[in-house]
Order: sequence, then C-alpha cells, then structure tokens
Amino acid sequence: MVSRPRPRTITFVSRNPGKAREVASVLAPFGLRVRWKRRELPEPQAPSLATVVAAKLEAVRDVPGYVLVEDSGLFVPSLRGFPGVYSAHFLEVWGFGPIFELLRTRSRRAYFQTVAGLRHGRRVRTFTGEVHGSIALRARGREGFGYDPIFVPRGWRHTFAEVPPEEKDAVSHRARAIRQVGEFLATEPRW
Ligand code: IMP
Repeated sequence: MVSRPRPRTITFVSRNPGKAREVASVLAPFGLRVRWKRRELPEPQAPSLATVVAAKLEAVRDVPGYVLVEDSGLFVPSLRGFPGVYSAHFLEVWGFGPIFELLRTRSRRAYFQTVAGLRHGRRVRTFTGEVHGSIALRARGREGFGYDPIFVPRGWRHTFAEVPPEEKDAVSHRARAIRQVGEFLATEPRW
C-alpha cells in the first residue's frame, strides 16, 4: 500500500458559513482540510482590512495548529472607497438601497478585496486578493451571501449570486487570496 502524507488541517475562524464553504473548496485541491471554528472575532474600527486582520490574528493566538482568518470588503471608487472596511455594518443597517441611490449619477465600478491572515504558533503571514467589476442596476440571484447579488465581475453578465459556487470561486477576491495560502503551504512545508 502506498503511504500518502496526511493532509494538513487548517482551522478557519469566522462566523460566516458562506466564507467557510468557499475557503474549504479552494484549499481542497492543495490537500488541505479545513475545520471551521465558528467564532465572533473583534472587528476594530480601522482604516484598512489589513489592520482588522492583524487584530483577528491576535485574537486567535489560543487556537492550535494552522489558523486562518480573513476580512473582506466591497470598495466603490466613485464613493471614495465606501463601504470598504464598513461593508458588514453598512449592509446590516441599510441594505443595498443607498448604494443604488448614490450610484444613479456616479461610476458603478467596484471591487472586492480580501485580506487573509495565516497563523502557525508565533508566525503570521497575510495574503491579498481582489476582483474588479461593477455594481448591478438591481439585486439578482440567490446564491452566495452579502453583496453577491449586486456585484458583476468584469466581463460577466451575471452577478456572483446568479452562478454556481464554483464559478464564483474561479475568480473571486477570497479564492484569489486563499489560493495563495494553499500555494504558500505547498512550497513551504516546514512553515
Ligand atoms: P466581513 O469580512 O465579514 O467583515 O465582511 C464584510 C461585508 O462584506 C459583509 O457584509 C459580508 O457579507 C460582505 N462580503 C464579504 N465577502 C463577500 C463576498 O464574497 N461576497 C459578497 N459579500 C461579501
């Protein structure tokens, strides 16, 4: 019998089941198994996703093994980057309405960004992924979560919420950041 190396397990700490699914399916081809630990992490009012991720990495010091956290946002340049780091709070309080209203007279270009943070003991690394596109004229589709129904990637006719999960994973900000995590661990087996 051929003995294979045991797949490494990564603990993904988040309260969002949609993110956990995406992270697990992106890391599976790298032989990395993902265990989802549902936990609310601190999200300080901070000017950048990287600052939020640094706080999350600090908050998971107690979790053994390889630990992954991330923070994401939707950035609209014609709104000076809003909602950006405030994406979660804004969506919870206001929904999509004000964004449609504000974009009636402004460029609809937008991008998602994810900063992923990997911790192993005292070592930490961060990885960034982006996807560019535009804000749809109305919400469409039922897949995904968050702003997926209003985001159309560049070159697409559909929103992220109108396509099967694999199609979002092929191009998304999160998949792009998390694939770098897989590549990093594949090339740095001793990290
Ligand atoms: P956070 O990273 O959990 O703080 O997410 C910020 C906000 O952006 C939340 O409202 C999420 O639902 C939303 N969000 C994060 N990632 C995505 C995504 O991949 N698609 C759509 N919305 C997202």
